[in-house]
Amino acid sequence: MSNSKNENDRASMLNYAIIDLLCSRMKRGTGKMRWQKKEKRGGIRVRWTYRLGMCIGMIVVLCSLAACDSPNSTALPIASDTNGHVVSPSKLVLEDTELEERQIVLGYSQLGSESDWRKANTRSIQEAAKEAGIELLFENAEQSQAKQFEAIRRFIEQDVDVIAVSPVIESGWESILLEAKEAGIPVILSDRSVDVSDTSLYVTTIGSDFYEEGQKAGKYVLDKVRNEPGAIKIVELQGTLGSSPSIERGNGFRDVIQARVDLEIIASESADFTLAKGKQVMDAFLKEHGGEIDVLYAHNDDMALGAIEAIEAYGLRPGKDMIIISVDGTRRAFHKMVEGKINAVVECNPLLGPILMQAVSEIISGRSLPKQIVSPESVFTEALAEKEIANRQY
Ligand code: AHR
Repeated sequence: MSNSKNENDRASMLNYAIIDLLCSRMKRGTGKMRWQKKEKRGGIRVRWTYRLGMCIGMIVVLCSLAACDSPNSTALPIASDTNGHVVSPSKLVLEDTELEERQIVLGYSQLGSESDWRKANTRSIQEAAKEAGIELLFENAEQSQAKQFEAIRRFIEQDVDVIAVSPVIESGWESILLEAKEAGIPVILSDRSVDVSDTSLYVTTIGSDFYEEGQKAGKYVLDKVRNEPGAIKIVELQGTLGSSPSIERGNGFRDVIQARVDLEIIASESADFTLAKGKQVMDAFLKEHGGEIDVLYAHNDDMALGAIEAIEAYGLRPGKDMIIISVDGTRRAFHKMVEGKINAVVECNPLLGPILMQAVSEIISGRSLPKQIVSPESVFTEALAEKEIANRQY
């Protein structure tokens, strides 16, 4: 991958998302929610009542023009008047004016700070909020879903405009998301997704296609061992159990490698996306399987870095005696690729801040968003690492 190609990729990630967002047409929402909430803000209510009175005629006409249905987008909790009637398009003008008058408040529950990726993700969100003039109420849940629930409840009490959350695991989100919905606060899922039957509980998911990342890792392994006959033994360091990247990266990988029956995952365990646990679990794998291991698939770079320490301590050469592939594409992993100790990394882009802020503004403006906004991502191999390393932003 050339430098300019990578820059293009980053630019196009943002462009795709922004084009997606800007091109998403307004749609009738079921949502009285947001405006019920806004009524609580006294000064704003007076202004709005007046403005709504002035514009109601125009609204009725324009509403019918704006009613549309897009297969990729979802009904958002968009604008309704004080009676709960949807008042879409002309409201945008008013809302833009409104947006100039006060700061949007975003409550964001980050799941932790377990990896370089996560730290870059946090920085990106904090910087983008500042840049966009959005007030960010930031909470770090330190890997605890219970703490994420508490943070979301605090955001509801604080009556924020939008809630964003990076869910630590997939399950168990129904009732807390329902609480946010009932409070009239739209929720954006950032980075990871949730497993809920009612997808109207959130507006959109912004992040990576983790299944595809797993597939890319699988394809790399298949290609790398294509000339090696006989059984290939793989060990897998999974991320946090029950988290969407761990589940999907595992599934995507397995679905691809099954193309060759003699590729076998001989050990698979969670190392929680951390370097320390990556080292510890790899150490245990080596004690059990030693020199039998041909391939290490780590669900993130931090675990691969920890595993490299264990492999070297065991007396093997990472990247030579054992093929190593991981996910994320952090600068530290690139350095290891340059040294030949990691053979390939699948990119997972943490720089979601600008797109998240764009999505927040679009929601506040009453526009609908696609249900999923996915970052385009690459695969980097050791052959390209040296050239690419200067471009890494995290
Ligand atoms: O959810 C994204 C994953 O979480 C990243 O791959 C990993 O490094 C992080 O901790």
